[in-house]
Amino acid sequence: MPRNKESTGFVVTVAIVLSLVCATLVSVAAIGLKPIQEVNAAKEKKKNILMAAGIYQDGGDIEALFKDNIEVAAIAIPSGQPANDIDVNTFDAVKAAKDASTGQSLDDDPAKIGYIANHALVYQLKGEAGIEKVILPIRGYGLWGTMYGFLAMNKDGQTIEGLTFYEHKETPGLGAEIANPSWQATWVGKQPYDENNIPQMRLVKAISPNPDVAEHQVDTLAGATLTSRGVEATINFWLGERGYGPYLSQLASQE
Ligand SMILES: Cc1cc2nc3c(=O)[nH]c(=O)nc-3n(C[C@H](O)[C@H](O)[C@H](O)COP(=O)(O)O)c2cc1C
Repeated sequence: MPRNKESTGFVVTVAIVLSLVCATLVSVAAIGLKPIQEVNAAKEKKKNILMAAGIYQDGGDIEALFKDNIEVAAIAIPSGQPANDIDVNTFDAVKAAKDASTGQSLDDDPAKIGYIANHALVYQLKGEAGIEKVILPIRGYGLWGTMYGFLAMNKDGQTIEGLTFYEHKETPGLGAEIANPSWQATWVGKQPYDENNIPQMRLVKAISPNPDVAEHQVDTLAGATLTSRGVEATINFWLGERGYGPYLSQLASQE
């Protein structure tokens, strides 16, 4: 019997079959592409570590540069002591933060991250005389979501050597300017700590003409005061007593 292609049953059947085929194709593509996405995400992180360290070369071999210059170490947070029982190849600080056995929730939470892990990975840039810089993973809430980045500090534990953000949800042209290398470059050389060793970085509309004040200041992002406040809170939190402060003090004392 010839099929009535205009009947409701036929149209509904075709629609269902088509939806199932499309859904299957999308799922297969998503699952199939996941490993590639993970590889690319890991590469982007390494690129940002190299950028923060100041040794990234455009078009260079990221894996080779990373392998030749960076040593990954695990430390306890906040003591800063080496944590040799942590596997640096598999440790995930964001995952560990949310597990009560490997992290803790934060009541006083200026960077608005909710939880912090009991350990962290630190990336050490090695020169002939040992550690030259350390590149520290940081994260904090902007206006629309969590911003993930790396802050490079000199082995003196006091001087900022670089800042990058590799993942965020801020608006292009506004808050997303946190990823602009020109703005990131203005952080280099800043001295975040005051005389009591409290991190005091400020994002301001006009940098002070007084160098003693200006060394704690960076330009706020135009039209993105809320993102800028998030960055300020993020930097000061991670450099503080509950973040990398003790680790950086120990590093400086080894000089
Ligand atoms: C569509 C839209 C997107 C925005 N995105 C951001 C953003 O990513 N970061 C931010 O701080 N402010 C953003 N803002 C602006 C904030 O709402 C707020 O006005 C701004 O942070 C104030 O900064 P200003 O004092 O420098 O003008 C956005 C506003 C709109 C309408």
